[in-house]
Amino acid sequence: MTWWADATVYQVYPRSFQDTNGDGVGDLAGVRRRLGHIARVGADAVWLSPIYPSPGADLGYDISDYTAVDPLFGTLEEFDRLVDDAHALNIRVLLDLVPCHTSTAHPWFKERPGFYIWAEGRDGGPPNNWLSAFGGPAWSYDPGQGRWYLHSFYPEQADLDWRNPEVVAAVQDVIRFWAARGIDGFRVDAIDRLMKDPQLRDDPPAAVPFGLPVEGGGTLALTNSRNGPGIGKALAAIRAAAGDLFLAGEVYLPADAHPSFLEHLDTTFAFELFHAPWEAAALRQAIERGIELATPTRRGPAWVLSNHDFPRVATRWGAQHARAAAVLLLTLPGPVFVYQGEELGQLDGPGAERPIDRAGRDAHRHPVQWDPEPRAGFTDGIPWLEPVDPLERSVAVQTGDPLSVLELTRALIALRPHLEPGLLMLETEPGLVAFARGESHVVVVNTTAAWLPVPAAAEPLILTAPGGVRDGRLAPNAAAICPA
Ligand code: NOJ
Ligand code: CA
Repeated sequence: MTWWADATVYQVYPRSFQDTNGDGVGDLAGVRRRLGHIARVGADAVWLSPIYPSPGADLGYDISDYTAVDPLFGTLEEFDRLVDDAHALNIRVLLDLVPCHTSTAHPWFKERPGFYIWAEGRDGGPPNNWLSAFGGPAWSYDPGQGRWYLHSFYPEQADLDWRNPEVVAAVQDVIRFWAARGIDGFRVDAIDRLMKDPQLRDDPPAAVPFGLPVEGGGTLALTNSRNGPGIGKALAAIRAAAGDLFLAGEVYLPADAHPSFLEHLDTTFAFELFHAPWEAAALRQAIERGIELATPTRRGPAWVLSNHDFPRVATRWGAQHARAAAVLLLTLPGPVFVYQGEELGQLDGPGAERPIDRAGRDAHRHPVQWDPEPRAGFTDGIPWLEPVDPLERSVAVQTGDPLSVLELTRALIALRPHLEPGLLMLETEPGLVAFARGESHVVVVNTTAAWLPVPAAAEPLILTAPGGVRDGRLAPNAAAICPA
């Protein structure tokens, strides 16, 4: 069995994790200092969102040098120390591989224009109707070149042309560079954007809903601007360079489009569950669609409920559901990803006074709250984003409190290795999500504000609320894990 088969991966957004030099921005030394927390939570691996030099238009996802560490975060030597210390604690290290685009400040953009996707305009405007993920056309005019370049995200993020073999070789070198430094894998960014329609044809109008929140509100079927022909070959090239490193793909497509990615990647994120409303039927359906992906010869999805791009669980679904959501996530079979701060049930914040991220994602990126004091133990300086509610929620205060989200998260992660393989959804009350993990455990989640009958006779091993089961009923918003 591979180490990641049922692993819990802890996502660190380095900027917001722990500052050590008082500049108000988290850094690699901070991650190293807090490895003990990640180990105590019980994570098997840590994924670091981009740590590379970047002008910061997309806070690291616009890379200007793939094989260095942004001085804001530290140095390569500091990175090596972090990997050593993590490994000493039995924590694997994953980096963020961003193969689809570079910053327009990357030297390649000027020196190697053939690395990018260019086209002539149409009727004085962009070459086609493709939309950027953050709104507006996916093309910008470059006066120097006298033509348009493609950017699936911000205009500062030019899409690489994966039909150019030199691009493939260059990214393979990047993968080998980090592999040689001893990392254990990559989360692979926006991988459904690697290939587009080679003829750059318009996206047709959408005939059916896309299935996930997307640009343009889903008016276009995103069939030409992403997931184009040749994806298998491109992914095979990534796999060839990565060897047996763990590769988790950010495939932002509904589950039925994932099999071609799972032929080469080890897992792909289950975004349907991530974006499901907190309603039993929708949650059940999203889980089943993910489970069905796995076959005897194909891996299944990685489960995730939040990241640095979308509202946090307690904000999106409501703080009253944070515990039950943790039970749901951490009892699913296969790898799970936990975004920093979710182990405390942290909330979104107001963001920065003058927005830093133009797409409005500052709110989901407030610092981790370590201590009950105004700067939350995150920094001695002025934090780049203020902590949200450190007096109410912090690692220090929740540690040892059996009713806290933190201690619940620890207990759930500790239980994961004891859950038997497989998941069988159980027929129950409409407001419950209930499933059996093999023959070992039954998981029951109450999504409603009513007491509902529990489909398990035994005393719960884990219960999210004291007295949460009475007369065979589960309390509102509670969840229980019972021996089968
Ligand atoms: C997905 C990342 O999670 C997001 O933060 C980023 O803006 C886009 N990919 C583009 O790299
Ligand atoms: Ca710092």
